[in-house]
Amino acid sequence: MTAHSMAGQAVIVTGGGQGLGRAFATRFAAEGLSVLVADIRHEAADAVAAEITAAGGTARAMHVDVTDEPSCRAMCEAALSAFGRLDILVNNASIFSTLKMRPFTEIPTEEWRQVIDVNLTGVFLASRAAVPAMKEAGRGRIVNIASAVVPMGRPNYLHYVSSKAGVIGMTRGMARELGGWNITVNAVLPGATDTEIPRETVSPEQRATLIASRSIQRPGTPDDLTGVVRFFASEDSSFVTGQSLVVDGGTVFL
Ligand SMILES: NC(=O)c1ccc[n+]([C@@H]2O[C@H](COP(=O)([O-])OP(=O)(O)OC[C@H]3O[C@@H](n4cnc5c(N)ncnc54)[C@H](O)[C@@H]3O)[C@@H](O)[C@H]2O)c1
Repeated sequence: MTAHSMAGQAVIVTGGGQGLGRAFATRFAAEGLSVLVADIRHEAADAVAAEITAAGGTARAMHVDVTDEPSCRAMCEAALSAFGRLDILVNNASIFSTLKMRPFTEIPTEEWRQVIDVNLTGVFLASRAAVPAMKEAGRGRIVNIASAVVPMGRPNYLHYVSSKAGVIGMTRGMARELGGWNITVNAVLPGATDTEIPRETVSPEQRATLIASRSIQRPGTPDDLTGVVRFFASEDSSFVTGQSLVVDGGTVFL
């Protein structure tokens, strides 16, 4: 049996304006899906949508703040009105590459709240906005981008680790609530993955140590993740829900 084609389906990628979100958006577009690139930085979303369109794909860009409920609702309405359907939501938006690593005793409370708001509440709000259309269709896929820092218990990132642990819990609870409509909810837990965005928070020494801790000792790339996200978004995973899959070159084992 060949892989199921996903052409013609519609996907929203939050935080699609750069990095991994951009890689997910371009991969889906290359497979013939219509993509709504949603990002708080409209120009970045625009650039990714333009890149997709120039390559012959179908994409729309939208300014979306996942911490804002009306904005999440408008995002799903825009996908439905542009593409006539909403099959897949990839909850990828996050405060991540801009975070400074520091002991939790030094994390400003306001920064803690912001990270929880975007990385955890944002997944709740975007999912809640997408679910009515999926329930009506009797099918849907929610793919949450969590992180391998949770099973690793990585230090100096406590707000980030806590937010992603929350996403894993939410994935499980939401999977139970949505199974009756054939909506699956799964989490992908990437290890450190290089993107086009430089990450000043990780020193060259830390990076070398991370790579040495892997079973497959090389840097992670967006291409290591796009196929895994595609799997959870596709028919091939129709009996898989509530799961967390670590994609870190074999550093931690769940
Ligand atoms: N790259 C890695 O090493 C790595 C490892 C583990 C997990 N992750 C996770 O993968 C995802 C993507 O990572 P990345 O490296 O591309 O991160 P990134 O920081 O480069 O990109 C995050 C994107 O989210 C957008 N965003 C931030 N706040 C938003 C909001 N309120 N509403 C909408 N969009 C918002 C940003 O504008 C940006 O385009 C994130 O969830 C991240 O936590 C990344």
